[in-house]
Amino acid sequence: MQVSRAGLDKEPRDVAKMFDTVAEKYDVTNTVLSMGQDRRWRKAVVKLIDPKPGERILDLAAGTGTSSVPFAEAGATVVPCDFSIGMLEVGKEMRPELPFAAGDGMKLPFADNVFDAVTISFGLRNIHDPITGLAELRRVTKPGGRIVVCEFSTPTWRPFDVVYSNYLMRALPAVAKKVSSNPESYVYLAESIRSWPDQRGLAIRMAEAGWGKVDWHNLSAGIVALHYAEKS
Ligand SMILES: C[S@@+](CC[C@H](N)C(=O)[O-])C[C@H]1O[C@@H](n2cnc3c(N)ncnc32)[C@H](O)[C@@H]1O
Repeated sequence: MQVSRAGLDKEPRDVAKMFDTVAEKYDVTNTVLSMGQDRRWRKAVVKLIDPKPGERILDLAAGTGTSSVPFAEAGATVVPCDFSIGMLEVGKEMRPELPFAAGDGMKLPFADNVFDAVTISFGLRNIHDPITGLAELRRVTKPGGRIVVCEFSTPTWRPFDVVYSNYLMRALPAVAKKVSSNPESYVYLAESIRSWPDQRGLAIRMAEAGWGKVDWHNLSAGIVALHYAEKS
């Protein structure tokens, strides 16, 4: 099943360049645009993965490493991986203790079956072919290992969905103009969220990529969903 991304099919190198340009202010812009909710979402990801000391965890599309920090704090060995050199450089400067790796989610630079768990926060939507990305994540996961995908999704209460769509398409680009170094990229963000599959749609795609026992739960009334699964 293809993910329909009408008008959003940026070439991978343009996506990488786009993130290079927002890297400096990425963390602060995120917190402003999510109205401080992003910290809560990140904590929920770590709780669901439930990292044990000594486990090896891949955080794909980790950007500056914001999504990786809570794993390191829990005692896991986390590898933040991203293909935007700009994001990696800012990340390395802010968090020199993390072992950042440059790599494309479509063709990961890791051997088969090496991670106890894999995760991706707000990145799967940006990968050119998300099903290939999910299959790559599965390839590098040990048998019995787990995945958590944290991604924007579809609000479960219809009237709220209408208000939220207005926020995405109008308010978000306007706020981004004030706080981001590249407001255009936040227009892309709003459009990419609206054209992303809903909770059930993403679960189907994860199963297509080979993941088993796929399920999800919603955060913030479905603005974000956490999908989890296992490699059997
Ligand atoms: C919105 S940021 C998320 C960063 C971080 N995970 C977080 O939660 O703050 C999305 C990231 O996905 C990365 N990305 C997009 N496509 C990628 C790919 N094919 N391989 C690796 N990283 C990718 C971008 O460079 C960007 O840093």
